Amino acid sequence: MATLIFNIKQLVNVRSSWSLLHGDELAKLPCINNAYLILDGETIASYGKMEELKYDPSTFTDRFDTTGKLVMPSWCDSHTHLVFTGSRDEEFRDKINGLSYADIAAKGGGILNSAKKLAATSEDELFNQSYNRLKEVIGLGTGAIEIKSGYGLTVDSEMKMLRVIKRLKKASKIPIKATFLGAHAFPAEFKNDHDAYIDLIINKMLPQIAGEGLADYIDVFCENGFFSPAQMEQICLAGKGYGLKPKLHVNQLNSIGGIQKGIELSAVSLDHLEIMNDEDVQIVASAKTTVGTLLPTAAFFLRMNYQPARKLIDAGCAISLASDYNPGSSPSGNMNFVAALSCIQMRMLPEEAINAATINGAYAMELQDEVGSISIGKKANLIVTKEVPSLTFLPYSFGTNLIERVMLCGEWVS
Ligand code: NIG
Ligand code: FE
Repeated sequence: MATLIFNIKQLVNVRSSWSLLHGDELAKLPCINNAYLILDGETIASYGKMEELKYDPSTFTDRFDTTGKLVMPSWCDSHTHLVFTGSRDEEFRDKINGLSYADIAAKGGGILNSAKKLAATSEDELFNQSYNRLKEVIGLGTGAIEIKSGYGLTVDSEMKMLRVIKRLKKASKIPIKATFLGAHAFPAEFKNDHDAYIDLIINKMLPQIAGEGLADYIDVFCENGFFSPAQMEQICLAGKGYGLKPKLHVNQLNSIGGIQKGIELSAVSLDHLEIMNDEDVQIVASAKTTVGTLLPTAAFFLRMNYQPARKLIDAGCAISLASDYNPGSSPSGNMNFVAALSCIQMRMLPEEAINAATINGAYAMELQDEVGSISIGKKANLIVTKEVPSLTFLPYSFGTNLIERVMLCGEWVS
């Protein structure tokens, strides 16, 4: 059944072919003004300029007049921790009073705090809370998402998280990629025996997760006080043995060699990148297929320096933008705010922000042939904006909800 969207003020990110965008390619955002879009079932069937529309709009039973509005591909949020229990609002006060992310973690708060709560939550309850968050971000325009484990840190709880992600994949039309992040923190009982926890990840968690087909990727939090580059390598090589490619947390708090190691491991993406020295930037720039994923809302919430987006783009890196939705460093999965922050605080152009949060985000989940642009044959996962004066108005008017409706797989989401 065909649907027509017509009188589109601007159809955004229209591509007949696509590749991972590096450096100055990010500023080129192909658009069609005064356009139409035809959907056939779940997919995009055709598009063009209104004056080239061969059919009378009245012949379509499903037709939508979008005069004054933009139509864009949905956001592709390639880094989230959306499955968690409760919140960490109690730590918010500590943060306001001056404690750093590392201080809170050292006090037994942070990731271990979320892990304790998750252990005491049933799988059904965890699913319900997570499904509500997923529905929330879909309403905010997210149309493809990656979700990590990592608040389990025991065999049972990591499995519980990944089973919840599997249930989310079934319950929702949105494409979801699952990442195993057992190496998110060392549990208290392994404080003095890190090797034993790594052994548990490699020899107990990984075989079960792979046995049930619960993960698409493997992740490690490579940071002082967490996992070293050598430990990350050991865990990723074991994951690769089960077909799990790395998507990694590196350079959030320190530059300790995670970038170099991540490239050697052919990571699909290297994420965070707040703390980058010149050599780190050059290494990311020299990568052909690895995406550098920037998470500005984490820097915003932790009151840290933003990722050096301009330096990375000017050096020729392929970058994407993601929300990092999690209770500790980014309790928001709003990709509209992520795009706005990237423009306001990281000096990305609106075109760069939209490319980074759509097509390059799709590459960071290896979903580039399904989503991330307006292309024939891709899924009809779309954002229709309210009436706006321009595309620039979207990140400029940060905090205002400018989304009128969203579509997943050819169906409007209510
Ligand atoms: O990406 N830094 C590691 N992981 C998350 C935060 C996890 C947490 O604090 O709960 C992040 O920022
Ligand atoms: Fe994260």
